[in-house]
Amino acid sequence: MVSAEVGIDYVLWTEDEVSTRVGEVAAELAADLRALPEPAVIVGVATGAFLFLADLVRRVDVRLVVDLVRVESYGAGTESSGKPRITADLKVDVAGKHVVVVEDIVDTGNTLSYLIAHLEKKGASSISVCTFLDKPARRKVNVHLVGDGKFYRGFECPDYFVVGYGLDYAELYRNLPYVGVLKPEMYKKDSSN
Ligand code: PRP
Ligand code: MN
Ligand code: MG
Repeated sequence: MVSAEVGIDYVLWTEDEVSTRVGEVAAELAADLRALPEPAVIVGVATGAFLFLADLVRRVDVRLVVDLVRVESYGAGTESSGKPRITADLKVDVAGKHVVVVEDIVDTGNTLSYLIAHLEKKGASSISVCTFLDKPARRKVNVHLVGDGKFYRGFECPDYFVVGYGLDYAELYRNLPYVGVLKPEMYKKDSSN
């Protein structure tokens, strides 16, 4: 089998840079969660958020609950379908709870808006978002937080198709420990998707 790095053009954030920044975001989040009376529910969005979620929560020394939800909107292409689907729902009850949604990236905002509406319907008392990457250049829908919810982000991402640290192209590259830019020839064929 070939190396996980085949098709990467260049590195945007190294493993060390990622780790340092995740530590900073974790500290910020921990400080806010400590002020809450009840354990917050940290909701990771599978699949992309799995590494960020794991690295984040182990650096947040606060009593909390972790759950996962699976939301997909990209399929195998590089363009959002604009129609996210929840393909696996939460296990825990978030009614009356402070919820922090953990994402790998906010791009058009469709996934998050859809998920936030879903969590609001379930009665979450506040909804915050903690995203590893934020790509505001591509935003189509404003992400509205609920209650005293806050928005945390690791890095602002330039408008390239990035992979690694959980982010995929056609389900590949998630296991790279850094964030890289994919060579355009890797996905040109799929640009009609
Ligand atoms: C990606 C990414 C975010 C979402 C962001 O998920 O992980 O969840 O898209 O894009 P948006 O802001 O335009 O909605 P994807 O649908 O690729 O599923 P995955 O996490 O399983 O890769
Ligand atoms: Mn995702
Ligand atoms: Mg994806």
